[in-house]
Amino acid sequence: MKKTVYLILALLLTFSMVLTACGKAPSGGSEQSSGSSQSGQSQQSSAQPYIGCAIYKFDDTFMTSVRDTIAKAAEGKAKVDIVDSQNSQPTQNDKVDLFITKKVNALAINPVDRTAAGVLIDKAKTANIPIVFFNREPLPEDMQKWDKVYYVGAKAEESGTIQGQLVVDYWKAHPEADKNKDGVMQYVMLKGEPGHQDAELRTKYSIKAVEDAGIKTEKLAEDTGMWDRVKGQEKMAAFLASLGDKIEVVFANNDDMALGAIEALKAAGYFKGDKYMPVVGVDATAPALQALEDGTLLGTVLNDGKNQGNATFMLSYVLAQGLVPDKGNTGYEITDGKYVWVPYKKITKDNINDAK
Ligand code: GAL
Ligand code: CA
Repeated sequence: MKKTVYLILALLLTFSMVLTACGKAPSGGSEQSSGSSQSGQSQQSSAQPYIGCAIYKFDDTFMTSVRDTIAKAAEGKAKVDIVDSQNSQPTQNDKVDLFITKKVNALAINPVDRTAAGVLIDKAKTANIPIVFFNREPLPEDMQKWDKVYYVGAKAEESGTIQGQLVVDYWKAHPEADKNKDGVMQYVMLKGEPGHQDAELRTKYSIKAVEDAGIKTEKLAEDTGMWDRVKGQEKMAAFLASLGDKIEVVFANNDDMALGAIEALKAAGYFKGDKYMPVVGVDATAPALQALEDGTLLGTVLNDGKNQGNATFMLSYVLAQGLVPDKGNTGYEITDGKYVWVPYKKITKDNINDAK
């Protein structure tokens, strides 16, 4: 009898143990497996900082090289979501809101409208997410709104000055460049997006460099090609239609517009025989280097997308880890506690390899 009681008790105990185990097993198991993969993921994402990056528009030659560099620099170090703002500031604001909801650790933003950076800074500050702007420089008063705001770019006036020097060198070496022999350089200007620091300052400083070299200039026409090759071609075709051979030099704020202008010039019979036109651009994109080799583009200025992309990533990466960026942890000198300035470089046929 005692034996039976013991047996029943033992059975009950075993049964209850099995029951408890069964009851726990599914939840314990799911916690473990999804838990382990979840904690694996969260371990990964907590070990790998999460950065939200927005580009003003994907369809831009130079920004594509910067974007590719950022993606490459992030490999194995951070999760970076790169999104296309499609050249619309409201779209970009929405994308930034989404990044904030997703709790990114840092923001890297190429603003559509640089004067709208203040709004983005307010959003970032409220969420306490550090923000690195690049390529389109926010206004100084916006940069001062918060200490976790940075900018990576190049000094636009420097690229303008270099363009001017390229043209001065050519003008001095080629007296025939002054086609009407009036001692004045008659030029047309293909401008980037109005209001963009690179468009305004390249336009101003390229001509200033020519005049500083003692050469008088006369602007025959100026129009915006919005950084775009097709628009550059259309605007140049219009200049040629109204001004024809009066044009002695073509300044373009970037290579894509310079290449568009070269197309229009070719269609008008230039670059054949001794019909030549000096054209200068900025960026040193691959097709521009090809045009330098072909002898159609006179010169360009290296806009160092590799270092701009790399510096943008390094700053966001360091900030995403809650650290204060400096030369030691980013590899880049930080000016006034906020700015990384990447230098430009003059590129002609003679030093093409410096840009490759
Ligand atoms: C400039 C570059 C242009 C265009 C623009 C976009 O620095 O020279 O080609 O990419 O940035 O903001
Ligand atoms: Ca002249």
